[in-house]
Amino acid sequence: MFELYNEKKEDYWDVEALFDLCFTPSRFALSSYRLREGYSPIKDLCLIAKSDEDLLVGAIRYWPAEIDKKRILFLGPIAVHPTYQGEGLGAALIKNSIKRARELNWKRVLMVGDQIYYRRFGFRKMDGIIFPPPTNPDRILGMELEDFSWQGVLGEVCPFR
Ligand SMILES: CC(C)(COP(=O)(O)OP(=O)(O)OC[C@H]1O[C@@H](n2cnc3c(N)ncnc32)[C@H](O)[C@@H]1OP(=O)(O)O)[C@@H](O)C(=O)NCCC(=O)NCCS
Repeated sequence: MFELYNEKKEDYWDVEALFDLCFTPSRFALSSYRLREGYSPIKDLCLIAKSDEDLLVGAIRYWPAEIDKKRILFLGPIAVHPTYQGEGLGAALIKNSIKRARELNWKRVLMVGDQIYYRRFGFRKMDGIIFPPPTNPDRILGMELEDFSWQGVLGEVCPFR
């Protein structure tokens, strides 16, 4: 079993180690990091999962971003320790954080990932959204947290300054 908590300052390096394990340290070369580097994540939405043995076994972070001055919630990274994958932990991290995002009045969320996994949560491939290159357009996914909130939101994704 596992429990979800808000990521605290003291969890930072354990979360980084988990992401290194799941993505390799070359993750920093991914285009998504151009939207994160030098900007702070949204603390209220960054969650960790701990096992019964108090080990950090999963984490999700979010950054603010914008398209044409409209605020976007940018999901990622998310990772679950290989030993704990396939037990619903990824789903719990996503569902719980998305619920919180709605409560915090975020309107739309964007991410880069495999549609085959994320569509079960309501993510769909987005058209007309330009990410820092190189990004496979088929992996640009979005979800409305409020009806029609993606309507007319098109263009380049920028960090939220
Ligand atoms: C993606 C990840 C967070 C999912 O966490 P998880 O706890 O294993 O996920 P869940 O238990 O909620 O769901 C497991 C299901 O998702 C499927 N799944 C997991 N990753 C998938 C992917 N990239 N593409 C398609 N299906 C995937 C599994 O095959 C499994 O399928 P099943 O329900 O038919 O058995 C986890 O596999 C992980 O950390 N992977 C490495 C890092 C990564 O790729 N992160 C996402 C970057 S966008």
